[in-house]
Amino acid sequence: MLEQINETVDFLRSKGVTDPDAGIILGTGLGGLTAKMENYLEIDYRDIPNFPVPTVDGHAGKLIYGDFGGRKIVAMKGRFHFYEGYDAREVTMPVRVMKYLGIKCLFLSNASGGLNPAYQVGDIMIVTDHINLLPNPLMGPNDDRIGPRFPDMGEVYDRGLIGRALMIAEKNGIKVHRGVYLSTSGPTFETPAEYRYFRIIGADAVGMSTTTEVIVARHMNLPCFAVSIITDLGIEGKIEYTTHESVQKVAAKTEARMTTIMTELISTL
Ligand code: HPA
Repeated sequence: MLEQINETVDFLRSKGVTDPDAGIILGTGLGGLTAKMENYLEIDYRDIPNFPVPTVDGHAGKLIYGDFGGRKIVAMKGRFHFYEGYDAREVTMPVRVMKYLGIKCLFLSNASGGLNPAYQVGDIMIVTDHINLLPNPLMGPNDDRIGPRFPDMGEVYDRGLIGRALMIAEKNGIKVHRGVYLSTSGPTFETPAEYRYFRIIGADAVGMSTTTEVIVARHMNLPCFAVSIITDLGIEGKIEYTTHESVQKVAAKTEARMTTIMTELISTL
């Protein structure tokens, strides 16, 4: 795996992607943050060796490198999902590549269904912990040069970054929740019984991504910060018909608030 990672890193450096401070993975309907980047260059995933190609609408499939919040960042506009048919290692390959490009922190966003009865559509949840119900991306042989066989998961989301994000949200008058994100494979949205079950086992929001990327990042000791946009509710009495389009619509409306938090947070690095 390390050989593949190095090959991709060499390719990206040859294209001008040099020494990014942070990486960011943008979820469904949340790619607009990249419009705030300056002096950027874009590379289609299709042109990057060892990168899979995404298949879902709303996931553009471009790596964008440039200035954001006064720092150099590498942004993934469009991510890879397990439900597309990739295995958990393929889904997380870009995270390995970003780490070896030199990022110091990984930022992630996702669209998710709210399970906590206090949540409303359009709310932002800062992820404080997760329940991974996707296949673990570290299964299989471990390369000790990259990370340990049995990584600790006691503090997966960086407390310092969460604290700073809360202050930024307060300063800007942005309401945020703190909560536990649970991942399932999808591509089905949940049945009412599944939503109830996920709430009972301790989740505040449910989605189809993020945890595998975060596990791989923590395997390499990379601090992580993630936000979920609540695009629909999995709360008894409030469950509505959910489509990919309705998820994208709400995500797009919430994007500006999320971008404010991300911009100011990255500027503190
Ligand atoms: N469930 C799973 N994934 C999602 C949801 C949901 O309700 N909303 C957006 N992504």
